[in-house]
Amino acid sequence: MAEVRTIRGFVYPKKRTAGADEFDDDEVIKAKKSGLPTAWDNSPDAALASARHEFGEHGGVNMSIEASATFTVMEPETMRRMFTGELGPDRDFFIYSRHFNPTVLSLGRQMAALEGTEAAYCTSSGMSAISCSLLQLCSSGDHVVAATSLYGGTHALLGEFLPRACNITTTFVNITDHEAVNNAIVEGKTKVLYFESVANPTLTVANIPELSRIAHDKGVTVVVDNTFAPMVLSPIRLGADLVIHSVSKFISGAADIIAGAVCGHASLVNAMMGLHQGTLMLLGPTMNPKVAFELSERLPHLGLRMKEHCSRAMAYATRMKKMGFKVIYPGLEDHPQHELMKSIGNMEYGYGGLLCIDMETEERANKLMYLLQNYSQFGFMAVSLGYYETLMSCSGSSTSSELSDEEKVLAGISPGLVRMSVGYIGTLEQKWSQLEKALIRMQDKDCDNLFNKN
Ligand SMILES: Cc1ncc(COP(=O)(O)O)c(C=O)c1O
Repeated sequence: MAEVRTIRGFVYPKKRTAGADEFDDDEVIKAKKSGLPTAWDNSPDAALASARHEFGEHGGVNMSIEASATFTVMEPETMRRMFTGELGPDRDFFIYSRHFNPTVLSLGRQMAALEGTEAAYCTSSGMSAISCSLLQLCSSGDHVVAATSLYGGTHALLGEFLPRACNITTTFVNITDHEAVNNAIVEGKTKVLYFESVANPTLTVANIPELSRIAHDKGVTVVVDNTFAPMVLSPIRLGADLVIHSVSKFISGAADIIAGAVCGHASLVNAMMGLHQGTLMLLGPTMNPKVAFELSERLPHLGLRMKEHCSRAMAYATRMKKMGFKVIYPGLEDHPQHELMKSIGNMEYGYGGLLCIDMETEERANKLMYLLQNYSQFGFMAVSLGYYETLMSCSGSSTSSELSDEEKVLAGISPGLVRMSVGYIGTLEQKWSQLEKALIRMQDKDCDNLFNKN
């Protein structure tokens, strides 16, 4: 335990932690072992509920926010021991908040529980979590194999930025073609296989167990961006090594915060915090503790929110398909990875909160979005996802615009692809009537006039 902290007659209050006696990790930022039967370990909600709960300084049910950039010590010797790594956050010794902050660390424990990992740490954005992970795992001259369909920013990082700035190159492959993935790996040179559990924006579902097996056979680390499917898919339990989240999306749920997280083995996450070679420490994508506090209050209802996002998406996808629209949704039987999703997903949540409608041309995609927002008030034209309102964007000209036309074809992104992050506000029938109204109007001949008026 930390030294007794008294100064000028004050005893520094010591936080109470539920089950603190059981929290016996030697390595930092480990999630508390729940001690529950193994069957529960497969439920992200159960794992979250059995994660360590921090109380406030004065016994508040919520943890206190440690809004300090720096931390005091009682003895000069303690400072030296902290810098050698002998005393660390696992024993309540903190140096400086770019390194570790107790509130951010606590959110990390929740994220580790959610993903079933030993450790996790939270960052200022999803992109910083991605770039720091890749730079930790790869050095100059190394190689990455990545999916063709990825968030545009990640695609640009891998395809343009990393080759120029760091001499780290990437081969993009269709990750549903396992032979192509296997062939793209250059033994000794390829360090990372990178893909999204459910791809942005094509909603291709990755066969995480099989891809992990292929990569591990050749000593390659599997990094999975699980932004589209928190709760729904648990990549680590399926064989992946590191999970990344853009916490800005479903986990935040309110479209008000940009944040990220890296979840994985304690040895890797700790290495990322290392004083000499740690990317999170040295590149400094630090999360503000006030932001960490806000997010930690939202994680407990992520499961409820995901269930509602998913059931609404399923209902709309089924009904739109019946109306004759070309709908892409992993919950539909005609989705190429429907059976896979059923077999690897945490089915109590559903098939994800995103669906796509392929309107074939950008013009038709724009008309549909215009009607949905301005005529029937179904949702908002906006990028991002995981909000309680429905958000929609034409991926080819927005969040995938970093890809060239050829790359979009390879990734399967049609110019008319409308990506919808399905919200849960209002009642299902109220929102369906708004969606249906716009879809019917879309099929009308006079729809062109309506659009052109504005
Ligand atoms: C799948 C995916 N990963 C990562 C990111 C980047 O996250 P952030 O915007 O939090 O940096 C995004 C952003 O849209 C995304 O969709």
